[in-house]
Amino acid sequence: MKKAFINISKIYGILNPEFKKVSGVEMSQMNTIENGFLIVENGRIAEIGQMALFQGDHLETIDLNGASIMPTYCDSHTHIVFAEPREQEFEMKIQGKTYEEIAASGGGILNSAQKLGELSFEELYNRSAKRLTEVIKMGTGAIEIKSGYGLTIESELMMLRVIQKLKQNFKIPIRATFLGAHAIPALYKSNPQAYITEVVIPAIDIVAREGLADFVDIFIEKNYFSIEMAQTILDHSEKYGLKSKLHVNQLSNFGALQLAVDRQALSADHLEEMTDIEIDYLKSKMTMPTALPSCSFFLRIPYAPARKMIDSGLPIALASDFNPGSTPSGNMNFVLSLACIYQRMTPVEAFHAATINGAYAMDLAHEVGSISVGKLANFIVSKELQSIASIPYSFGRNIVDCVYIQGEKF
Ligand code: NIG
Ligand code: FE
Repeated sequence: MKKAFINISKIYGILNPEFKKVSGVEMSQMNTIENGFLIVENGRIAEIGQMALFQGDHLETIDLNGASIMPTYCDSHTHIVFAEPREQEFEMKIQGKTYEEIAASGGGILNSAQKLGELSFEELYNRSAKRLTEVIKMGTGAIEIKSGYGLTIESELMMLRVIQKLKQNFKIPIRATFLGAHAIPALYKSNPQAYITEVVIPAIDIVAREGLADFVDIFIEKNYFSIEMAQTILDHSEKYGLKSKLHVNQLSNFGALQLAVDRQALSADHLEEMTDIEIDYLKSKMTMPTALPSCSFFLRIPYAPARKMIDSGLPIALASDFNPGSTPSGNMNFVLSLACIYQRMTPVEAFHAATINGAYAMDLAHEVGSISVGKLANFIVSKELQSIASIPYSFGRNIVDCVYIQGEKF
């Protein structure tokens, strides 16, 4: 089935499909077509060009009447499978408690794990599907989703099966990440090592056998998982050929970034606490540094030094981190605003960070992340795009008119 989208004011984010990511100065270059058309065949982009050269009058046509289009966001770091919001913790934060203090007083990830344990599979699926629908409507067209609020073998597998069902029922590419090492459950507080040998490692065996996850993640942080614990887990998951995406350098800095790079993690995420030596360490490596500015905003912690990283030639991806504790929003438009305002990324850099570089951070750059012939026809339509800067500029407003997934209106 072929159809043509015509009278497009501007097509943003056209990229030679050979580019799997963009780095340094490349991030500020953008190819566009003005007054264009786009032809979709079997859910993929078959052709793009200028209206003057359009020869598809025989096709089903959708007249975009001067609206512009851009590729959908590739949100490479989320925790959207969770039971419920943690608004009481929000009030504690306002009163001055830190993320660590809230966690220590029974809130945090363990709180979410307890709530999740009370839900049926169906209920957890329904709540997660609702969040996924919400973020797609705001422009997300590919997403990574982590487990990590189960913290028992059974509940972690349930979370991954929820993600599996989301994969079956939604037409956007979804990647599942096993994050059993997200927090140490109370039961293992006096012996965290036993949590790894009794829960994380056996869960990885099942996850790998049943193909329930694409990646493995670990929250490497003080009071969570140490470098040594992370090494033990990675030694095991790597035997199955599972790639990693790691939570590093969020609240403290003790070598987690170096570990991620050495283990050829697909991405190293958070990076709020970075030294210049660590920025250097990322150079010419395959690991995609990924910033989560909504988390910095919500927790009032530092922002990843994105400007410095791009100026030293690195690529950077932007993701939402949508989760009930540190980032209760999956709005990628707002992520772009924060990246520009607080991290001094230019709008075009932020756009690339949230599209092609996010796609790379999920191993999906061959499918999504740009308007390229052969990729999925997942794109955002907006009447208000004067330039790509209209998105970060219009913070808190919604200038996405609608989203097409595989060429179908979502
Ligand atoms: O990425 N840092 C660890 N995980 C999440 C927060 C999880 C939570 O508080 O529920 C994050 O910020
Ligand atoms: Fe996270």
